[in-house]
Amino acid sequence: MIRAAVVGASGYTGAELIRLLIGHPAVEITALTSESYTDLSIGEVFPSMSGLLDLTCEKFDPPEVAKAADLVFLALPHKTAMAAAVELLPLGKKVIDLSADFRLRDPDAYRRWYGVEHVAPNLLREAVYALPEIYRRQLAAARLAAVPGCYPTAALLGLLPLMKREVIDPDSVVIDAISGASGAGRKLELPLHFSELEGNFKAYSVASHRHTPEIEQELSRWLGREVLVTFTPHLAAAVRGILTTITATLVASKAVEELLALYREQYEQEPFVRILREGRFPETKQVRGSNFCDIGVAVDQRTRRCIVVVAIDNLVKGASGQAIQAMNVMSGLDERTGLQAPALFP
Ligand SMILES: NC(=O)c1ccc[n+]([C@@H]2O[C@H](COP(=O)([O-])OP(=O)(O)OC[C@H]3O[C@@H](n4cnc5c(N)ncnc54)[C@H](OP(=O)(O)O)[C@@H]3O)[C@@H](O)[C@H]2O)c1
Repeated sequence: MIRAAVVGASGYTGAELIRLLIGHPAVEITALTSESYTDLSIGEVFPSMSGLLDLTCEKFDPPEVAKAADLVFLALPHKTAMAAAVELLPLGKKVIDLSADFRLRDPDAYRRWYGVEHVAPNLLREAVYALPEIYRRQLAAARLAAVPGCYPTAALLGLLPLMKREVIDPDSVVIDAISGASGAGRKLELPLHFSELEGNFKAYSVASHRHTPEIEQELSRWLGREVLVTFTPHLAAAVRGILTTITATLVASKAVEELLALYREQYEQEPFVRILREGRFPETKQVRGSNFCDIGVAVDQRTRRCIVVVAIDNLVKGASGQAIQAMNVMSGLDERTGLQAPALFP
């Protein structure tokens, strides 16, 4: 049994980790932390968990968490998580960080995009970017996993076959993505109030979203040269789900069936990536609550551009499900363990 702790248990990704880990046959949740709900049982924080897990939220105390658990999920805001990892790793714990703190390999890039110095730049090189579809081998040996952002997960899985096979011009990539409000976390913010959100759709962080350098870092690593993308996120009046549309110019004319063949070949062995047949495109409702990433592909022959549509649940494949997938790899378990539930539909 893996003894696991969830640090930041009262947030959305923390709650999603607990929901999924309760059903994981190889995990026992042994510690939960929260600063605002200290001394409350998790059933009081989330009545939906009442009777399923008998644990109380404690203030985060690294030695206490390390005593209780072998592996720690950090579901904390960025800038907070890095300090927690620095305390837990020397105590011999495996750390899976859901924040952005260990995703960028370059400390200067971290400073530029997050506005503070990284407290452990040495760990940025060591952390494994926890996208198992790409870094499975490295993850298997990792003690520090940096779970990708929700938008980068969808964008990178959507782009991988096209980039690897060099069928698109890498400098032509445009990524438009729509997210539900849970992507912003549980903290209170005016734009996320029901009255502001309901019936509204808007772009935000245009040409400046912090997931941009993460997407560019990975694409640049794959190609061995700098790749820049245009990424525009949008907020929709929904709770869960990300729908991403990627467009890029084909270097030579291709039929959609040829592109679909590349996707099928790339993801043939992947338990959580589903390629839809020609003419079908993903919908967030088909992945809601599940760890699946659904991908549909089209070619606009008039403009010689391809269009890739990707759907994930931001809280599952975009965060907590992916974190558990990483834990399974890091622990030598079948990657699907505890993650096989289909989407909640409708
Ligand atoms: N939401 C998503 O779809 C998503 C997807 C991918 C990645 N992420 C990343 O995952 C992390 C968690 O996101 P979330 O959506 O779960 O956020 P959230 O709902 O706002 O939860 C954050 C958690 O951290 C705790 N916390 C806040 N400030 C803290 C501090 N200074 N020290 C210690 N604990 C603190 C919060 O509650 P207490 O006040 O009770 O401690 C809460 O438990 C973030 O870094 C986020 O960027 C989120």
